[in-house]
Amino acid sequence: MKSKIQQLKDEALALLDKITDRENLEVLKTDVLGRKGKLNELMKEMMTLADDERKVIGQFANELKGSIEHAFGEKEQSIFQQEELRRAEDEWIDVTAPGNFSDAGHVHPITQAIAEIEETFKKIGFTSVRAPEIDWDYYVFESLNMPGDHPARDDWETFFVDAPEGEKGKIVLTPHTSNAQVHVMESQKPPIRVININRTYRRQADIRHLPMFHQFEGLVIDRGMTISNLKGTIDYFAKTYFGPTREIRLRPHHFRFTEPSFEVDISCGMCNGDASLNCRLCKGGWLEIGGAGMVHPNVLKAGGLDPEEFSGFAFGWGVERTMMMKEGMNIDDIRVLYKNDLRFVRQF
Ligand code: PHE
Repeated sequence: MKSKIQQLKDEALALLDKITDRENLEVLKTDVLGRKGKLNELMKEMMTLADDERKVIGQFANELKGSIEHAFGEKEQSIFQQEELRRAEDEWIDVTAPGNFSDAGHVHPITQAIAEIEETFKKIGFTSVRAPEIDWDYYVFESLNMPGDHPARDDWETFFVDAPEGEKGKIVLTPHTSNAQVHVMESQKPPIRVININRTYRRQADIRHLPMFHQFEGLVIDRGMTISNLKGTIDYFAKTYFGPTREIRLRPHHFRFTEPSFEVDISCGMCNGDASLNCRLCKGGWLEIGGAGMVHPNVLKAGGLDPEEFSGFAFGWGVERTMMMKEGMNIDDIRVLYKNDLRFVRQF
């Protein structure tokens, strides 16, 4: 009996010696010291011994139990220390190392331009509206005095959506922001003074054109609006956005939805509008910026307004082009704006 107990102790200690982690220690502990463990088995066997013999063996067994428990305790302690050391090794922190800086981005130059244009018009009482970017033919052409087969439609190289026609015709990706005009007249009564900035789409791509670009559309309708109001507004914009020395000029043009219609030029910022300098940017002192005109009576009628009572003006320009004309921009290819080249974008 005694030797059995001694053997158990020797075996247990030998095994214990080899253990280096907590899991195996737990397994061995249950195996030896657990309720159904080997030591308890021996204790049970002891019950069958005669009284005096049991006393002696019992004492021996108890001593032995004590020493095994002690050994287990020490092992536990040493494993704990090992673990601490390993953690200190694995998880050390260099408090002198520089921190991780997240790259702070900024809004895209075109988004900046949109915000700036919007701000500029807000200062003289315009409010922002947002007409649909995908719209019915009716708002894009029909209500703007361009019936179904009118050749003027060809000027807008339009993407039509392959979808069933509705009451208001086909669905189109808006090729200009003028679709805002009748939408606004349907939802507001004059005086109207709004600016609609949106994405526009045309089937075109070269160094001056993109299939997706942005336009901003100004629309003012009130009683007694004249070309002077149009000129004053555009002149204000040119001087505020481009600089106080910039001049504007209106050239006669033709749009179906304005009468009279104009093409708006802004004096060149490079040569200051001096044609004699033979500037390579403008070739003649002026840069063309976009269209404008007095809202056509048919468009007012489409918007439910009486042209005898109300008049108004509108203008629609490309955001990219306007932004590229700003002094010091020096962007000679519009496509660079959407290449996602950080070397370009970070300059703004
Ligand atoms: N919608 C015209 C274009 O895309 C511009 C324009 C807007 C002209 C408003 C006159 C009035 O070219």
